[in-house]
Amino acid sequence: MSENIVWHDTAVSFDDRVRLNGHKPAVLWYTGLSGSGKSTIANAVDLKLFERGCHTYLLDGDNVRHGLNKDLGFDDASRIENIRRITEVAKLFAEAGLIVGTAFISPFIADREQARAIAGAHFIEVFVDTPLEICEQRDPKGLYKKARAGDIPHFTGISSPYEAPKNAEIHLKTAEISVEAAAEQVVAYLIQNHKLGSE
Ligand code: ADX
Repeated sequence: MSENIVWHDTAVSFDDRVRLNGHKPAVLWYTGLSGSGKSTIANAVDLKLFERGCHTYLLDGDNVRHGLNKDLGFDDASRIENIRRITEVAKLFAEAGLIVGTAFISPFIADREQARAIAGAHFIEVFVDTPLEICEQRDPKGLYKKARAGDIPHFTGISSPYEAPKNAEIHLKTAEISVEAAAEQVVAYLIQNHKLGSE
């Protein structure tokens, strides 16, 4: 970073935005294997929050990789850079007052801890805990089949590791509950932690 760049204070404060929105911002950081249901659950939560009048936005792995991160692949260094950029974007959305959901595999603990450190008090880790066998059975995009055949290198869960969270704020055991129940669990967490009121 250049030493000639100076941080500007803003005329509208963070507290002003919280008052106007009537809720606190948050970064709902969904993590889990490909095909675990991150995007589906994140969308269900987003809709519930939207219907409650919350200001929200979703950043989704596959979509972000079509734009901002289209220059990145799936080797370790690319995944780390993918998550670093998402973290900074999510932080900006949260500072703008939104409840932002991020749905990325984000397989490495160190990167998620880095995201937690950067997003600060807004960060809520949501472990979409779907066993590999189930993701592979579903295989919605046919990618596991290709990965098993050796056609996709560094595929998470097959030829690249997934480091499960140990202390996620929200643990969704998707083999036991429906999408609707999972979304309810996330919203209930936000209510219990006073994110949906401005007080
Ligand atoms: S992350 O590991 O860098 O967080 P991200 O969530 O952005 O991954 O992208 C994952 C999506 O990219 C998967 O759902 C899948 O559709 C696709 N994909 C393509 N190649 C791979 C791969 N080698 N490993 C995992 N996902 C892949």
